[in-house]
Parts: sequence; C-alpha cells; structure tokens
Amino acid sequence: MSSSLIYSTKEIFMQTILTGIRINSDLHLGHFLGVILPMTRLANQHSHDSHINIFVPDLHSIIGDIDGDLQRNIIDSLKIFLAAGLQINDHIHFYRQSYVPAHSELTWILDTVATMGETSRMIQYKEKSDDGKESANVGIFNYPILMAADILLYDATYVPVGEDQFQHLELARNLAERFNNKFGDVFTLPAKTSDQAKFMGQLDGNGIRIRSLTNPEKKMSKSDPSENSKIMLIESPASTAKKIMSATTDSVGKIQFDMFNQPGISNLLQIESLITNQPLQTIISRWTGETNYGDLKSQVATTVSTTLAEFQSRLAEISDDDTIHELLKAGEIYANGVANAKLLKVQKCLGLRD
Ligand code: TRP
Repeated sequence: MSSSLIYSTKEIFMQTILTGIRINSDLHLGHFLGVILPMTRLANQHSHDSHINIFVPDLHSIIGDIDGDLQRNIIDSLKIFLAAGLQINDHIHFYRQSYVPAHSELTWILDTVATMGETSRMIQYKEKSDDGKESANVGIFNYPILMAADILLYDATYVPVGEDQFQHLELARNLAERFNNKFGDVFTLPAKTSDQAKFMGQLDGNGIRIRSLTNPEKKMSKSDPSENSKIMLIESPASTAKKIMSATTDSVGKIQFDMFNQPGISNLLQIESLITNQPLQTIISRWTGETNYGDLKSQVATTVSTTLAEFQSRLAEISDDDTIHELLKAGEIYANGVANAKLLKVQKCLGLRD
C-alpha cells in the first residue's frame, strides 16, 4: 500500500461515500448485514472513482458507558471491514473522529443552526431519554448534530447506514440546506434517504432493518435478553444454524414477502438476499409459492453459517494491529486536510475568520 498524500484534481473532486461504525464489542448479524457488508461491497465497487471514508465515531461512543477498552475496540471495529473483504487502496480512508478536531468545532456551529424542536423529535433521543429526561446527558441530545458534522465536513453524498439512522441523515440534509440558503453553496447535501437505500441495493427505497429471530416485529438488537433472537458475529456455525432453524415464523403456510403479515419469513428472505448479494426480488421469485418453511430455513442457515465462518477465519488471520495503525495514520492526515478546509470555509461565512 502506498500512502500518497498528494491528490490529483480528479481525486479532489471525486464523490465521497462515508460511514461511521459505532464501537461495539458485540456486533451481531443486524450490524453485519445493515452496514458492514453493504459498505464493504460499495467500497470495493466504487473506490476507483470515489473516496471511501470509514471512521470510528469515538466521541459518539462516550455518550454512554464504555464496555471494555476503547482503544482495543476501535482497532477491532476497523478490522471487521478487512475481514468482511474490504480491498484497501489509496482512496480508502480510515480515521478516528476524535483525531479530527474539526468534527467537534463544526458540531458547535451546527448547534446554532439546528432547532430544539427538530432535535428533540429524533427517535433515538426520545427512546434513550424516555425514562429520565432530566438526567439524560446533553450528548444524547446533541448526538445527531455531531453526526451531521461527520457527514457534512466531507461533502459525503452517500452514507450507508441502517434504517434506524435515516432520520439522522435527513437532519443532516436539512441543516446543510438551511446553512446553504443563508450562505451559498457551502455543503454538499447527502442524497435523500430513498436514494441512499437504492444505492445500497434496496430497490424499494427503504433502509435495511434485520429483525429479531424470535420476535420479528422488532429489530435485532444487542440489548434483547433473548439469546435466540440474535446471531453474534462470533457465533459458531452450529449455533447459528440452530437459531435460524428455530426462528419464529407464522401459520400462513405459504412463502411470500409480506413484512406486515409474515415478518419472520420476510426477514429470512431479506437475510438471504443480503448475504448472497442477490436482489431481494430474485430471492422472492425463487421462493414464492413454496410451502415448506423448513426448506427456506435450512437454506438461510447454510448461507449465514458459511459466510460467518469465512468471516471469522479471515478475522483470526489479522492477528496484529499494524495494518490498522498504518491506515489510521494516513487516513487521519487526509481527513484533517479535507475537514479543516471545509471548516475554514464555514468560519469565513460566519465572520469567525477573514
Ligand atoms: N450513528 C451511527 C450509528 O449509530 C454511527 C455514526 C456516527 C455515523 N456518525 C456517523 C454513521 C456518520 C454514518 C455517518 O450507527
């Protein structure tokens, strides 16, 4: 890998695809299929003519209690992309949010653009602060504004995230638009969420949402007390297959894609499509009309357990941290260059700099 930091004119004007992977020591299939795998595929497909920014939002992660060693978790989170098959080249930029101080600076500025009303309507804020509005920390409220700064500093067009983050993306778009209306074309607006979904291969325009295996009305979540509801990335193939074989379905008796009436079956079809990288429509056509739920389950059990086993063995091969440290070193120089230039432009608009 060369880490050339001199960019050609073409490279300076290339579009940016960006995502932040939340530090989490226990990632599950929902994270893998919702963000990690789609981002890896998009990166491999577009890195010849797009910048691919993959960063760790370490400032976001201190909003709650940290489980484990933060530095260890940061390195491990990035290794996951390599194990998922990310091909590294000079357009792939890894960095840590807190190593690029412009993120915090732009957050404050965007705080003066965002309204209390729109920020308090964010679902995640409402959920997290529900049992104690008074004792919730201000960071929980400010979370989406920092996320907007993460995106807008780099003029990112596409931001692969799970469906639960779509509302935050819309907020970022609105803040950019409001700022631009006042000061001219400063920020690139990230694509609309329906276009984001399409870019991720979700042709219906909806974001990816992997559901609990035991209660498919809900999303797969690490905080779910039921172990059978979720498949961890470190799950053994036998246990993975067992959980899928016992997934909750329905009594309709026909395989068809219907999230409303048959969320369990639809979830399995969605998982099969994402893992095999085939359009959902292709998977639906293959299975519609069949009546044996067991056949679908064993197909999905095989694909998921084989894919996870391959992922796990690649992860085990990346034993040292050197590659990640090297990528971070080059990535953080790149990120500071781009982010500081954008921040200066914003500061000039506001009269903070001449
Ligand atoms: N909020 C995202 C999540 O919970 C992580 C994140 C932070 C992010 N900043 C971002 C994702 C910017 C995309 C772009 O998963």
